[in-house]
Amino acid sequence: METKIYETATIDEAAELLRTGQLIAFPTETVYGLGAIASNDEAVKNVYKVKGRPSDNPLIVHVADREIAQYVAFVPPQAEALMEAFWPGPLTLIFPMKEGVFAPTVTAGHKTVALRMPAQEQTLELIKKTGFPLVGPSANTSGKPSPTTAQHVMHDLSGKIAGILDGGETQIGLESTVLDLTNATGPVILRPGAITEVQLEPIIGKLAGSAQSTNEADAPKAPGMKYQHYAPAQPVILIDGTPADWVAIIEAYRGEGKRIGILASEEQLDIHKDAAVAIYSLGLKNDVAAASQRLYAGLRYLDEQPVDVILAEAYDLAGLGKAFMNRLEKAASSKYPKKNAE
Ligand code: TXA
Ligand code: MG
Repeated sequence: METKIYETATIDEAAELLRTGQLIAFPTETVYGLGAIASNDEAVKNVYKVKGRPSDNPLIVHVADREIAQYVAFVPPQAEALMEAFWPGPLTLIFPMKEGVFAPTVTAGHKTVALRMPAQEQTLELIKKTGFPLVGPSANTSGKPSPTTAQHVMHDLSGKIAGILDGGETQIGLESTVLDLTNATGPVILRPGAITEVQLEPIIGKLAGSAQSTNEADAPKAPGMKYQHYAPAQPVILIDGTPADWVAIIEAYRGEGKRIGILASEEQLDIHKDAAVAIYSLGLKNDVAAASQRLYAGLRYLDEQPVDVILAEAYDLAGLGKAFMNRLEKAASSKYPKKNAE
């Protein structure tokens, strides 16, 4: 199959392909999604197949407006307030499932369903023209970083899907916040994203837990969290230290004859770039939004360079930093300096 890149003018053609059960990748403000009509079981099965995704990891359904009562068993009042505040936007909400609406494979045996309205005009238009919500897991091969450009999607899925709607580079670069509204003890963040606890709590009150809670007991995981996440072929060492710590670790690797790749802020690169054979800038250190937007492209880039180890810079956990560090920690094989003696 030849995978075609669609410009905005051909949304009609992409919608028609979706209606006939084909797969079309679409841009969102977070990352690219792999679209199929959420009522077409064959098409949804094909999404799992082309991604190589485990069949028990449910998919997010993308809607074009806030009229969701038709798709879920119950819309809690908290959801109304959250949709008003954050949709369209990078917040996925988990609802009790309504039988017979979506293909069974969408929810992978769970009694709940994840919905999100993406903030991307082209994609909202695509969903409207298709006439039904679209599943949209990130449009990468399972185990690769989520795609933030149409070229990333092409790299992973060329020849396996009918097309890609090109929306350029995605704005946020990290997947949406996933908030579970079906938990008996209260709302729980299953995956941190651009919509943070600090933004959610004024609207729905105190959360009952967060996936990044330090207390394991109140940190339930999204079904997808148990799977191996992206890790480049070379070890990624997360460095949360001073320039002197950087020098120490760089010297240690150079002493072993290792070729170094660095994924870091402009400021950090200015000091250490001569020691590296490949670098990727995350932007200025005070701009965690830029770092988040560039993270996956940087990991993909450095993974293809002739390096033996990738040194990556830690960012502060405030705001979007929590989601950025959550993804970077999943890619990293170790941290330096080791904070807790273990
Ligand atoms: O930003 C995003 O959310 C992107 C764009 C394309 O919208 N999509 C995305 O999809 O990241 P995916 O499939 O890569 O991640 C979906 C996450 C997984 O961790 C999955 O386990 C969780 O959402 N999830 C889906 N349905 C769920 C459910 N019913 N209960 C709990 N977690 C669910
Ligand atoms: Mg994904």
